[in-house]
Amino acid sequence: MKKTETSERSGQSLSFFNGWKYAPAPESKDHISLKKQYGLFINGEFVPPSSKKYFDTINPATEEKIAEIAEADEKDVDLAVNAASKAYNNVWKKTPPKERAKYIYRIARMIQERARELAVIETLDGGKPIRESRDIDVPLAANHFFYYAGWADKLNYAFPNRNPQPLGVAGQIIPWNFPLLMAAWKIAPALATGNTVVLKPAESTSLTALKLAEIIAESGLPDGVVNIVTGFGKTGAAIVNHPKVNKVAFTGSTDVGKLIQKAIAGTSKKLTLELGGKAANIVFDDAPIDQAVEGIINGIFFNQGHVCCAGSRLLVQEGVADIVIRKLKDRMETLIVGDPMDKNTDIGAINSKEQLLKIQEYIKIGVNDGADLYQSSCELPNKGFFCKPTLFLNTSQSHRVVQEEIFGPVLAVQTFRTVEEAIEKANNIPYGLSAGIWTDKGSKIFNLTTKMRAGVVWANTYNKFDPTSPFGGYKESGFGREGGLHGLLPYVSL
Ligand code: NAI
Ligand code: MG
Repeated sequence: MKKTETSERSGQSLSFFNGWKYAPAPESKDHISLKKQYGLFINGEFVPPSSKKYFDTINPATEEKIAEIAEADEKDVDLAVNAASKAYNNVWKKTPPKERAKYIYRIARMIQERARELAVIETLDGGKPIRESRDIDVPLAANHFFYYAGWADKLNYAFPNRNPQPLGVAGQIIPWNFPLLMAAWKIAPALATGNTVVLKPAESTSLTALKLAEIIAESGLPDGVVNIVTGFGKTGAAIVNHPKVNKVAFTGSTDVGKLIQKAIAGTSKKLTLELGGKAANIVFDDAPIDQAVEGIINGIFFNQGHVCCAGSRLLVQEGVADIVIRKLKDRMETLIVGDPMDKNTDIGAINSKEQLLKIQEYIKIGVNDGADLYQSSCELPNKGFFCKPTLFLNTSQSHRVVQEEIFGPVLAVQTFRTVEEAIEKANNIPYGLSAGIWTDKGSKIFNLTTKMRAGVVWANTYNKFDPTSPFGGYKESGFGREGGLHGLLPYVSL
């Protein structure tokens, strides 16, 4: 690292970074077991796709092939939905709630037992740093199953005097940014409320969902209660359009969310959409600056910015803008970009080549629109899909890098003078998933939380998740809530 400047506020020299490096600390792959080829998990067993077609899943950090994944077509989806429908009518609907809870609890325990394996596979297949898969994705996935296991026999307390009933078959489509965790978010509440499931993981990250299928098979969950089919957008559309699917839960891009909403218009299918975001971290001049800088870094560089609630905009009050930006640049310089399997890595690989090209395109757009580009001086690996942590300074509200979701490690910085201006700028975008507020004053926090058009507002922290707390958006970020008591509602009729 080459940083030699002096941090203004602390007065400390950062020159000790000169030439100073961590020794590599790669996580071992010896303990994982992966098949060369994966079929579709239908009615409790892995079966080949009717088309006999498979596609490769690769490691985005090395571009090497990991395994072949089955591509499900309409026939396969029909088999899966019918298996789910039969399991619903013949078994799951009649299974006493406290028995349902035992299966969900068992799945949670088995995820914990295989945590190391799941974390390594998540990192190999998706590119996220092992530290995150190990400490965030996998434990949270287990926690979601634990949490919803607890609700299964208490639904009458969740909805007093309402006699909640399951809907039937839930079709669930998830993205590539938190593959195992999103599967847990979707499957756990559906099972707890007595529904059966057909789930489709994203095409670039199917492996941990397939490992979860193995766990589910071993858990003894009755056949057909959870089915996992792999494939591309067409497979997802076949699930959405199947007449025996009673509920659709989707997390992904706003464009596909709109297609799904159109596709099911006029049917009785229930829908929840969790779509994009463009969250603002708002830093007031009374904020604890170092803590805020760390929160901003976590907000946008966590998981390479592949986070729908990423703090991809920074709104900083004018009086502290210089010091915040200066400290931000200093901190960016210390971020380690590279091998996701290395325990020291802060920023891993971008999930796919397409996503890297999209991010690079936005970086060009930002420059052409007149914003000032700043990137850390780190070197990127020669192979794989990587992007330097990036800032855009001197942006205005109309810039595309301020308005549009980039889904990468790119932060657009704006300044403000008054509270009203901060609220106006934070809300003046098509999305409304999350926001962060940094201030010493509780009164400011309460004032802003009521005025932010965002589903989640973090105060003096960022990107904190817990199965007990609901998550979801306003405006083009979608509707419906996942997590917590609220996360039960989309899966029941009252
Ligand atoms: P996408 O929305 O195409 O993919 C999400 C899931 O939907 C995948 O499983 C995909 O196979 C499936 N899908 C695609 N077309 C479908 C259709 N017509 N019907 C049913 N399912 C369909 O997202 P993509 O292309 O991978 O990423 C594009 C952009 O979307 C990203 O750059 C990012 O801005 C945003 N995104 C947002 C996410 C979030 O968590 N809100 C997650 C992933 C992407
Ligand atoms: Mg992959």
